[in-house]
Amino acid sequence: MSQRIFITGNRGQLGRELTSRLPEATGGDLPELDITDPASVDAALDAARPDVVIHCAAMTNVDGAARDPALADRINGLGTDHVARAAARLGAALVYVSTNEVFDGTKTEPYLEHDRPNPINAYGQSKLLGEQNAARACSRLYIARTSWVAAQGGKNFPHRILQLADERGRLQVVTDEVACPTFATDLADAILALIATGRFGIYHLTNSGFCSRHAYARKILELTGRGHIPVDAITLADFARPSTPPKFSPLANTAAAALGITLPPWEDALRAFLALGTA
Ligand SMILES: NC(=O)c1ccc[n+]([C@@H]2O[C@H](COP(=O)([O-])OP(=O)(O)OC[C@H]3O[C@@H](n4cnc5c(N)ncnc54)[C@H](OP(=O)(O)O)[C@@H]3O)[C@@H](O)[C@H]2O)c1
Repeated sequence: MSQRIFITGNRGQLGRELTSRLPEATGGDLPELDITDPASVDAALDAARPDVVIHCAAMTNVDGAARDPALADRINGLGTDHVARAAARLGAALVYVSTNEVFDGTKTEPYLEHDRPNPINAYGQSKLLGEQNAARACSRLYIARTSWVAAQGGKNFPHRILQLADERGRLQVVTDEVACPTFATDLADAILALIATGRFGIYHLTNSGFCSRHAYARKILELTGRGHIPVDAITLADFARPSTPPKFSPLANTAAAALGITLPPWEDALRAFLALGTA
């Protein structure tokens, strides 16, 4: 791709995956780039003069966001405003990576791109604020919502399940939180394919299919020779945590699919991910 690309949060899960595909891209992350500081954002983008900014930097700890909603708004809302304004000033397009948690989880079918967001937790509220700020500042905008992201070496669900299985030999996992597992490899490919289309808009980019956390955990254990480890089925009501996730928030990919961009089924992507063996 001949466009100059700048990646915020380039040492996070998705940022690393994008960077590995784009040897000429530039980017930044804490501490040298702090998106809550407009001067830091302006300096980085002025130096890079990008054609496209892929904005991956975020506070992604949902329980941390519930404990400190103001910090989540500052990073995910205001920080995105800074990035979007700088991108617009330089005439760059912006990809804002957003989340299934902008939805309330009360639907019984996967969420469509034009369904009305209604976040029920601080993380979702802060990411929706980011969507709104991005849209206000930057007309050349792709909003790419995704869910349950995992990358090699990242802090993610497969890693946590394997760690707990080996430590405890028995797990308790919720059955009533349902979404789409997504692997950063496929997400990075889809985002780059989307940028190549030049078709701005709202997109849902997840691996295809969906499952409960419980079914996801069972599949991770089965594929790693740990199928004998019991996984007790519990509900969100049994599991005390600061943040309340939406119960049913799979994302339907209709807009990107219409452009020929689809992601493989999550089970296939999980198999490929586990085969690399460093989860
Ligand atoms: N992970 C998921 O399951 C998931 C699901 C749906 C949507 N998303 C969205 O997808 C995007 C990428 O997620 P990811 O999994 O790659 O997240 P990640 O691994 O947590 O990476 C985010 C990066 O942003 C950095 N960051 C945090 N605050 C910053 C600041 N003030 N200035 C600059 N950088 C900052 C983080 O640094 P520190 O690590 O030092 O904080 C981290 O390196 C995010 O926008 C996220 O909201 C993620």
